[in-house]
Amino acid sequence: MRLALIVPAAGSGKRLGSERPKALVDIEGVPMVRRTLSRFAALPGLVETLVVVPTGAIPDFNDALADLDFRIGEVSVVAGGDTRQASVRLGLEGLQSDPDLVCIHDAARPLVSKETIRDVIEAARARGAATAAMRPVDSIREDLETGETRAVDRARLWLVQTPQVFRYDVIFKAHHTAKAMQQQAADDTALVESAGQAVDVVETSGPNVKVTTPEDLELARLVLAREALEHR
Ligand code: C5P
Repeated sequence: MRLALIVPAAGSGKRLGSERPKALVDIEGVPMVRRTLSRFAALPGLVETLVVVPTGAIPDFNDALADLDFRIGEVSVVAGGDTRQASVRLGLEGLQSDPDLVCIHDAARPLVSKETIRDVIEAARARGAATAAMRPVDSIREDLETGETRAVDRARLWLVQTPQVFRYDVIFKAHHTAKAMQQQAADDTALVESAGQAVDVVETSGPNVKVTTPEDLELARLVLAREALEHR
């Protein structure tokens, strides 16, 4: 089984209050994108990793990813698009390795666990498409047409995260059809689903926050600092 990893990292750092792209922000002295990639170190079958970055930031990302001290296959950096969907499509078009499976994981989730990565890959191998997801912890209400709100059973809901893993042919076709039809989807699972592919949901193990606000960044710093202490 040949696996390629696509890491969308073409978002800005605006909501984080950073001038630099979010994925280049330092976490305990290491750029976020490098921390995220290290979670995939020595993953069986991983032959290629492609990082999709803001146009104009390719040299900065090449610097941030120089001299990696872990194995994630052939690494390359390509320019992304205006939306995450466009960035993922450009990533798919840039793959060189003709993989069986493609794993898509946001650069903004540097805490993802090896167990989650392994479990999502296993599920996609068996059924063609899978995503990591979590049950909501808060109770949930929804808007009604009347302007009121009503309670929703959170036991039936999932918060969709990455990694998401797909058979290469399935995700490639879904993105090209979406482009031709000018269809925008919430994420890659929604895209393949509208192309007729069922998606398996795998419960995330461990923290997998998407770093969006300065508070998220602080949380990521704390978790990674604790991990470093545990591994000393
Ligand atoms: O903005 P948000 O954090 O939801 O983006 C999720 C991931 O998608 C991030 O890793 C971000 O860098 C990436 N992204 C992208 N291209 C865009 C917008 C976001 O690769 N145009």
